[in-house]
Amino acid sequence: MDERYATGGVDASTLCYRQVGRISDGGYGRVVKAKHRLTGQTVAIKTLREDHDDVRMLLREACFQAACRGHPNIVGLHGVVRNPRTGKYSLVMEYVGPSLADVLEDRVERRGRGYLEPVVRRTMRQLLRGAKAMHDRRIVHRDIKPGNILVGKDRGSVSVKICDFGLAMSTTEASPPYSQGGTYWYMAPEVLLRKPGYGEVADMWSLGCVIAELFSGKVLFEGDDAAHQLHKIFDVLGVPGKETLEAFKPKSKLLALEVEQWRSARQQQQPEQCANHHDRLRELIPEKLLSQDGFDILKGLLAFNPDERLTAAEALSHRWFAGADPDEGSALAAFLAMVAWLVFTAICAWVFVRVYTLWINFEA
Ligand SMILES: Nc1ncnc2c1ncn2[C@@H]1O[C@H](COP(=O)(O)OP(=O)(O)O)[C@@H](O)[C@H]1O
Ligand SMILES: [Mg+2]
Repeated sequence: MDERYATGGVDASTLCYRQVGRISDGGYGRVVKAKHRLTGQTVAIKTLREDHDDVRMLLREACFQAACRGHPNIVGLHGVVRNPRTGKYSLVMEYVGPSLADVLEDRVERRGRGYLEPVVRRTMRQLLRGAKAMHDRRIVHRDIKPGNILVGKDRGSVSVKICDFGLAMSTTEASPPYSQGGTYWYMAPEVLLRKPGYGEVADMWSLGCVIAELFSGKVLFEGDDAAHQLHKIFDVLGVPGKETLEAFKPKSKLLALEVEQWRSARQQQQPEQCANHHDRLRELIPEKLLSQDGFDILKGLLAFNPDERLTAAEALSHRWFAGADPDEGSALAAFLAMVAWLVFTAICAWVFVRVYTLWINFEA
């Protein structure tokens, strides 16, 4: 985007844009699709809803996005604009495309299942790169979920970008205890338990939940509140052992209590299942869907103990990601095809000019 229109001066106004569509009227923000009146560039404009209209919140969001500006897997921020009529501020972002939640829902409706391993791997590689960029800057997103991931096209290949930094925080700026932020279904155990001083790996848990959902199209842990969410996690992963309980200090007692409550509830409902309870993750995502290498990553991301959870850098260096993705190969192929086409056009133009000159000379 032309910098003149993105920053400062009279151009930093919503009046520079013409709304061309509505995208979302979500939890916190209202997002519309718009075009810049002079440049014609398509953008997404997010304005906080009246009940969450706090300019500090919007600027916080802008700061986190700006800190990651330029990363291909994080939504690009063009600037902050003000509506001169209402005095409200909005974020102007690159327009990417639908959310992964919408794309996945559509896919499941049409095909009855989620994605195959190569697509999941390609998507995860990009999301992990985006997460690494945030975490390198000590930013914890705290609300990674399919609704906050956008799907777009980048030089002919599908690309995903993390958006919505509305609940993000910086581990350098805040001091523990941090508040509980995010969406229960994707919330890491340490956040659910309000363990003081949780860190960047809280996002890695959310990414683990996203991988599982990409395969099945279903939410992996669908709880109604913090306790229910923990119980849903125990149902799939089993209950944490002694060492993990210790790692949750000073919330170990609370966690032990939840384990007790889960046991007694399950003993009443499904006594048999409770007696031979084990890790059911592999049953939900069997080897025919996900290779052992991919499953190692999934397990590493869904490590209940945050000290044992994979970081983005560790996950990216795993052999599941060794070698280029076919899609990255096709981007290279598209680039080479474009170069070949340009060379071909230049040669044709040269031949045409030569023939024309010769003909003119001949006529003369
Ligand atoms: N830059 C963008 N390009 C295209 N769609 C976007 C963009 N940003 C947000 N959206 C859409 O708007 C929805 C809500 O945006 P989000 O920032 O997550 O707001 P909220 O805080 O209300 O959740 C997203 O799920 C996505 O569908
Ligand atoms: Mg959102």
